[in-house]
Amino acid sequence: MHAVKVELGERSYEILIGAGLEKLGEEMGKLRVGAKVAVVSNPTVLRLYGKTVFASLKAAGFTCMPVEVPDGEQYKTLDWANAIFTALLINTFDRRSPLVALGGGVIGDLTGFAAASYMRGVPFVQVPTTLLAMVDSSVGGKTGVNHPMGKNMIGAFYQPRLVLMDLDALKTLPKEELLSGMAEVIKYGVIWDRELFDFLEKNREKILNLEEGPLGHIIRRSCEIKADVVNKDEREGGLRAILNFGHTVGHAVETLSDYRIRHGEAVAIGMVYAAKLAHRAGLCDARVPERIENLISAYGLPASLSVMKPRPTVAQFMDTIQVDKKAEAGKVRFVLPTKIGGVVITREWGERQLQELLAE
Ligand code: NAD
Ligand code: GLY
Repeated sequence: MHAVKVELGERSYEILIGAGLEKLGEEMGKLRVGAKVAVVSNPTVLRLYGKTVFASLKAAGFTCMPVEVPDGEQYKTLDWANAIFTALLINTFDRRSPLVALGGGVIGDLTGFAAASYMRGVPFVQVPTTLLAMVDSSVGGKTGVNHPMGKNMIGAFYQPRLVLMDLDALKTLPKEELLSGMAEVIKYGVIWDRELFDFLEKNREKILNLEEGPLGHIIRRSCEIKADVVNKDEREGGLRAILNFGHTVGHAVETLSDYRIRHGEAVAIGMVYAAKLAHRAGLCDARVPERIENLISAYGLPASLSVMKPRPTVAQFMDTIQVDKKAEAGKVRFVLPTKIGGVVITREWGERQLQELLAE
């Protein structure tokens, strides 16, 4: 097991990487929280891991209540947050009663938002079971739900008290979900860490075969990088925006595909476009977009808009990018690579050039 610390003063917490789910009760016992725990999950994950999690919590003296939410992005809504509040109220959960999010990013975001809001904030523990949730969504405190007018539009920054990840859970994860998470790992290599990028190039087979050493290494490195960025800029005043590399175009791809294209797949496409834009702007040499595109393709991720059927028009694309919440003060924010391992954030450059690139 490896522990990575997120350092936020009295809101600091540990990310336990490679801790078995059977350790959850013992680790939560150290947090000095209430004895009544609500485990929010979906039927897919509960069927696979519910028994182990409940046994572990009970053995540590907790009383557990499962709160089941249907499986899917379409249930990351205020209505389902309200369903969680109702279950908590009916069962007289108080301010000390922790909520555990057992599942992928959808369950993590929804449960975190419920924990931030119920009685103005109750303890919250993340138990991510997808690669994407392990390397990205469970760390850093962004929680929220979708609104019919936009994804993640309602939410709160609310840090968990603990993140516990059992890498064995990835063995039951569908291949396409694993690949979707790989896009975020590739993102960390591009924005921050050339060595991670090189490692991903050299160890593709081992990683995709879920070999413990290489898999543990990339998850740990991703968490260390995310923790480092969040430690420096928790509320996205500046630096944290680099984590949105690939997300400006990526969000438009998700929206325009009606979420048929997964988050990570959309980010993969977005990273390729951002890298091409950076090269056009003279910010990096041609090898940068080439290496990014090659790595994305090597991991079986989409690298171009040709996967979108029907392919949206340039105008539809540009409109969707405008409504993205990152379109601040009328200017879209782009995160562009200057090299493998470094990016810049710009509002002055990108929109017109993206339009040209899309039109080609
Ligand atoms: P997800 O939560 O929908 O999980 C994907 C699928 O895998 C689901 O069907 C789920 O039931 C299943 N699953 C989960 N764990 C499993 C396991 N171990 N074995 C078998 N099946 C399993 O999707 P995701 O990719 O984990 O998360 C996407 C969400 O994360 C989006 O809503 C996105 O907005 C959000 N997100 C949030 C942040 C953040 O900082 N808060 C960052 C990135 C993404
Ligand atoms: N996933 C982007 C962030 O956490 O800031």
